[in-house]
Amino acid sequence: MIERCQEDARPRFGPRARTAVVLAAAALLAATSAAFLPGTASAGTTLGASAAEKGRYFGTAVAANKLSDSAYTTILNREFNSVTPENEMKIDATEPQQGRFSYGAADQIVSHARSRGMSVRGHTLAWHSQQPGWMQSMSGSALRQAMLNHVTQVATHFRGQVVAWDVVNEAFADGSSGARRDSNLQRTGNDWIEAAFRAADAADPNAKLCYNDYNTDNWTHAKTQAVYNMVRDFKSRGVPIDCVGFQSHFNNDSPYNSNYRTTLSSFAALGVDVQVTELDIQGAPANTYRAVVEDCLAVARCNGVTVWGIRDSDSWRASQTPLLFNNSGQKKAAYDAVLAALNNGTTPTDPPTTPPTTPPTNPPGGSCTATLQDGTRWGDRFNSTVTVSGASSWTVVVAVTSPQKISSTWNGSPTWDSSGNVMTMRSNGSGNSFGFTTMANGNWNRPVVQSCTAS
Ligand code: G3I
Repeated sequence: MIERCQEDARPRFGPRARTAVVLAAAALLAATSAAFLPGTASAGTTLGASAAEKGRYFGTAVAANKLSDSAYTTILNREFNSVTPENEMKIDATEPQQGRFSYGAADQIVSHARSRGMSVRGHTLAWHSQQPGWMQSMSGSALRQAMLNHVTQVATHFRGQVVAWDVVNEAFADGSSGARRDSNLQRTGNDWIEAAFRAADAADPNAKLCYNDYNTDNWTHAKTQAVYNMVRDFKSRGVPIDCVGFQSHFNNDSPYNSNYRTTLSSFAALGVDVQVTELDIQGAPANTYRAVVEDCLAVARCNGVTVWGIRDSDSWRASQTPLLFNNSGQKKAAYDAVLAALNNGTTPTDPPTTPPTTPPTNPPGGSCTATLQDGTRWGDRFNSTVTVSGASSWTVVVAVTSPQKISSTWNGSPTWDSSGNVMTMRSNGSGNSFGFTTMANGNWNRPVVQSCTAS
């Protein structure tokens, strides 16, 4: 069994205890490439790049069958640095027949994302809905075993590629009862949720493991409080939970409430990360979109925001036009509001930690010089900016100290060595500087510029 340590003492992307060296933040890089990367986007002009400058990601749900739509992928690749498969990792998609797993569509999305430096949220391992027929007809210990095997197999398949999993989705009932939702999974025993988390933990110790739900956004609602109590209980008993996802499907019947920030911060205070996982808002009012983003930015442990689709026509409720791009792929007012919120957002304060001790190193390299400057610092990570002089087209090599991991970059095109600790950044026309976020993972050494070469 995996023992969990004091979460409160850990950095934001705190690990499960067995992986004290491989902090959960390291999962942000998965096995070989950086996560939450904004690709070639420019800071301040795209959602992903602007979020990265705030140490966050900005993601979207993606449907595999739309990856052949160039209008769709143009926006996806330009704007987003995190991806959640909309349906392709669900149980009916990944295990259509018992014991026969099918990963084609999900692998396609993962490959598209990771090859462009986007991170992947996994959705979802255990859910009462979208179960394949064989599972729907199961019950009792056979269902429990089948569910655990599904969690194990799928989490194992994507190990190192998925930075956070919605391990369990929508397990609580709507309304005022505060009860668990009745389902075949729930009827296998009240401990089915923690059993799923332990199975996911064993299969992928480095992924962040989330509980995800809707109508848990309003702090006063019974469902919110019920999930809060479950998470508090899990933390007290060492159940391996790292994060809580707030779907945030806001509409006229279930509107955004200004206590949303209280909800996020209250859960975060339990020692879990919080993520806005499926955001869409009926009519896409700019002010509400702005408020949601500002609320996330105000909570240090809010890692990022995912919208549930790109264009209104991609939405599961398209008639409500709830997204940031219209059917033609044009930016809506809500897009501008979100971008402004990301760019103006305040940096949450975390307790100061020991300043970096390693002196800057800027050895000459070729015919250009790269100078590293310290940027914003949080409790678990810090930004750095590198300014290049002497060349307009350049290649700069930067190294961080293991177990540090670079979790996002902007204004350049990065590639990585096999360790993930040495980044080769090439100019991409965005100017003579680039930036990146380093997950400290307990080590606050300053990144080192190893070389600068005109190219
Ligand atoms: O792909 C088939 C298509 O071949 C077929 O002709 C058509 C006929 O119904 O169905 C298509 O599949 C649909 C699938 O979306 C892809 O469009 C399913 O019927 C439909 O049920 C499915 O809906 C998804 C829904 O989850 C299922 O519960 C939505 O796309 C997806 O956005 C939605 O996402 C959920 C999250 O997972 C959890 N939170 C709520 C959120 C919104 O409901």
